[in-house]
Amino acid sequence: MQSFSALLSAVILATSASAFISMPLTKLAPPAGSYLAGLPDADRARAAFLKSFAASGPTTVPASNLAYVQYTTSVGVGSPPTYYNLVVDTGSSNTFVGTGTKYVQTSTSIFTGEDVNVTYGSGYFSGLEYFDQVTLAPGFVITNQSIGDALSYADFEGVDGIVGVGPVILTEGTLSPDTDELIPTVMNNALSQGLIQEEILGVSFAPATSYNDTNGALTYGGIDSSLYIGEITYTPVTATYPAGYYWGINVTDATYGSAGAETTVIPTSTAGIVDTGTTLVLLADNFFDSYMKAIPGAKLDESTGLMTVPASSVSEIQPLNFTVGGTVFSMDAAAQLIPTDQNTAWGLSANKQYGVVSYLGTNSGEGLDFIIGQKFMENFYAVFDTDSNRVGFAYT
Ligand SMILES: *[C@@H]1O[C@H](CO)[C@@H](O)[C@H](O)[C@H]1NC(C)=O
Ligand SMILES: *[C@@H]1O[C@H](CO)[C@@H](O)[C@H](O)[C@H]1NC(C)=O
Ligand SMILES: *[C@@H]1O[C@H](CO)[C@@H](O)[C@H](O)[C@H]1NC(C)=O
Ligand SMILES: *[C@@H]1O[C@H](CO)[C@@H](O)[C@H](O)[C@H]1NC(C)=O
Ligand SMILES: *[C@@H]1O[C@H](CO)[C@@H](O)[C@H](O)[C@H]1NC(C)=O
Repeated sequence: MQSFSALLSAVILATSASAFISMPLTKLAPPAGSYLAGLPDADRARAAFLKSFAASGPTTVPASNLAYVQYTTSVGVGSPPTYYNLVVDTGSSNTFVGTGTKYVQTSTSIFTGEDVNVTYGSGYFSGLEYFDQVTLAPGFVITNQSIGDALSYADFEGVDGIVGVGPVILTEGTLSPDTDELIPTVMNNALSQGLIQEEILGVSFAPATSYNDTNGALTYGGIDSSLYIGEITYTPVTATYPAGYYWGINVTDATYGSAGAETTVIPTSTAGIVDTGTTLVLLADNFFDSYMKAIPGAKLDESTGLMTVPASSVSEIQPLNFTVGGTVFSMDAAAQLIPTDQNTAWGLSANKQYGVVSYLGTNSGEGLDFIIGQKFMENFYAVFDTDSNRVGFAYT
């Protein structure tokens, strides 16, 4: 499991240290094209798609569910660009390359004179900071983006770095000698350079059906209405800290079970964060205990830090419902469990049933009492709206 939230190391290490899972990198065949070649409607759609790159506005790019535990997207750096598979992280804000494919400098690469060093919930990198040209999509090119070249690092198995799409405040203290300097994020620069009109990121994730499943999409500069159903429910970024430094929100309650027979998991409005760079859904220890106790025979597996569910309880798993902004977002049984055919890829025992909801390592009341990670977002569309300082979710 990954947790790329910056600054959260104290909170997360308790979990990730015990739950460390190594992920061998396996190359897979590219996904079969779904483009309906020859159909006029499809051609018109493609023409509109290509034309959209000429205008500034929302731009959607693919994202890959890699090894089931992280989402990556392809980002070009330099001119001509070298392409890197970068983890999409709303829990940190530095963008860097070099942990897999090495940084290839071109005529657009200019050393800033700064060292850079970021510690994550799992792993770290340090290296040198450059200005360079960053290509997020064809024709969508940010100039003078400050990026890191990772020279020493840990825990970036199979990926080339991170594209950090959290709030810019999370870059504070990462440069040296200018420790007070913030690093404008790719979202900040895309807006200031007129590539997007709104500083909004739309995120579409889905459960993976293969080891590297390009089933996701990121929309830089807006939302893609084809990727969700119904309305988006927005909730403000929380004023509670430390969650408020991140894409932090309040969940007003969470329950396990059907109406009338439910167990309270989160009893009152509580602040936490929405983090694409955390694999699991993590709850404050007391909240997690309420959840686990509601599942007969469920227990914590000390060696992985994951909950295991006995076979007799698997078919009895009830919905886990989070209320956000007045709307209930329900994780059904499948959403709460790791498919057993993925156990080996996760580094888990083949014959056990594990859950995706786990514990944070601290009790509630500390201003960051849950992390809504990738496994939640595989079920819902998510919107990170800097302009209106809010987060949105919708059913898919
Ligand atoms: C995952 O798939 C994407 C899209 O096909 C590809 O660009 C990327 O290189 C793949 N990543 C790995 C680690 O194989
Ligand atoms: C990076 O920062 C961490 C935490 O502040 C520190 O322990 C480590 O020595 C730093 N590493 C480098 C290479 O500067
Ligand atoms: C590049 O961006 C930095 C901030 O990241 C800014 O200080 C500098 O003036 C910019 N340079 C150019 C040439 O725009
Ligand atoms: C949780 O949501 C599910 C799906 O909408 C629903 O069936 C269930 O009754 C809800 N539970 C509670 C306690 O409202
Ligand atoms: C959000 O949760 C925190 C506790 O984590 C609470 O103190 C605060 O009042 C809540 N905010 C709202 C608007 O309910």
